[in-house]
Amino acid sequence: MEKITNLKYLQPGEAVKFEYKGEKAILVRTTEEQLAAYVAICPHEHEGVEWDKELHKLLCECHMSLFNVDDGTVYKHSSIFDHIDNLTPIDVEVDDDQNVYAV
Ligand code: FES
Repeated sequence: MEKITNLKYLQPGEAVKFEYKGEKAILVRTTEEQLAAYVAICPHEHEGVEWDKELHKLLCECHMSLFNVDDGTVYKHSSIFDHIDNLTPIDVEVDDDQNVYAV
């Protein structure tokens, strides 16, 4: 297990980037109680994916694709291509001291 952060450093609505098995990854604290983590690489052309707090979605600015934060599914993608895969989820666990780990 790789420690990502501690919840005291991650407020609801905020995100933190981390590295997972050599890849860029992102952890979002979507609510007080809920976390979501993904490989932060767009399945289309492997550009970076960022957290858009205003839209409450994960965003790839390269072709403006949006992904649902709760399950990584595609919310919307550019009309210049027909299909884009979902983001790859990463399982996380929180211990009694509120440390968050990628498992
Ligand atoms: S690289 Fe992300 S939408 Fe094209």
